[in-house]
Amino acid sequence: MNLKGKHFLTTDDWTREELDVVFQRAAELKEQFYKEEPHLHLPWKTLFMIFFEQSTRTRNSMEAGMTQLGGHAHDLTADKMQLSHGESAKDTAIILSRMGHGIASRNCFYGIGKDYLAEMAKHSTKPVMSLQDDIYHPFQGLADLMTIFEKFGTNTKGLKVTVWAYADTHSKPLSVPQTQALLFPRYGIDLTIANPKEFPLSQDIIERAEKNAEVGGGSLNFTNDMDEAFEGAHIVIPKNWGGFGHYSVQDYLDNEDQCKVEMKENLEKYHDWICDRRRINLADKDVKLMHALPADRGHEVTDEVIDDENISVVFDEAENRLHTAKAIMSLTM
Ligand code: CP
Repeated sequence: MNLKGKHFLTTDDWTREELDVVFQRAAELKEQFYKEEPHLHLPWKTLFMIFFEQSTRTRNSMEAGMTQLGGHAHDLTADKMQLSHGESAKDTAIILSRMGHGIASRNCFYGIGKDYLAEMAKHSTKPVMSLQDDIYHPFQGLADLMTIFEKFGTNTKGLKVTVWAYADTHSKPLSVPQTQALLFPRYGIDLTIANPKEFPLSQDIIERAEKNAEVGGGSLNFTNDMDEAFEGAHIVIPKNWGGFGHYSVQDYLDNEDQCKVEMKENLEKYHDWICDRRRINLADKDVKLMHALPADRGHEVTDEVIDDENISVVFDEAENRLHTAKAIMSLTM
């Protein structure tokens, strides 16, 4: 299967067969990494990474990954570039794709990020990869699923997974849970989205995720009760996201300051949405805790739970960001 040149903006643009090739490549690369065998799929190649926001896992999995594949990644931020003086996504993409072999960007501004990346992809002659936008976080979705395969096997039918928790760090994008909602049911997983009513996912994503579930054999369930979601769950992902889905994109952009105040007021009602020992005890006896990280310890999840090595697989999941990033880059660039 030839995936060279294919953009990676959302897992929804990739078929099951294509994604299975990615997981196969990621597993091979992980083995080679552990054996310290060279795996120079991209000698001398250049990836340009443009971050509009902070990142630990994404930045370092991509940059380390490029080095390990024999190439190099430029770690760029918008303030280092003429983007900060208004140079367009189109011109930036044309120019960088003439100088290197791939472009990757994180732009999570609500109502802007996904379209910004799509504009780059339209004009780039080299693959464009999303390092997270306002709607999707495809690399995180791959690492999540790879971790699930490792812990539960590739027959994921009937696995029950559940998400949402309180956090007070910042209004996290919808992109992680939305990617999970789109991707997990394609692999037969039963996903329960538990969230307070003011923190829904976007309706159009839910509709697409339901179609994906029909095809993939998984299911999507919704509840406003965190305890109910934990009951019998095999995987819990206590992950906060902001209340963006409560508004239409246009309403949010037109009334951004007011929406932010409302989102904060709504959030304060849900301090008790935490993954603690009591809730873990509601789940399956072999339950695993996953989280894209950074975790808001003491709010999303207690230290006792996230540090429990019998339950928590968050660091395996973070490491798999490296192997899945290398798989996508080595196949597309
Ligand atoms: N999970 C994730 O995307 O982490 P970073 O924000 O640190 O890249």
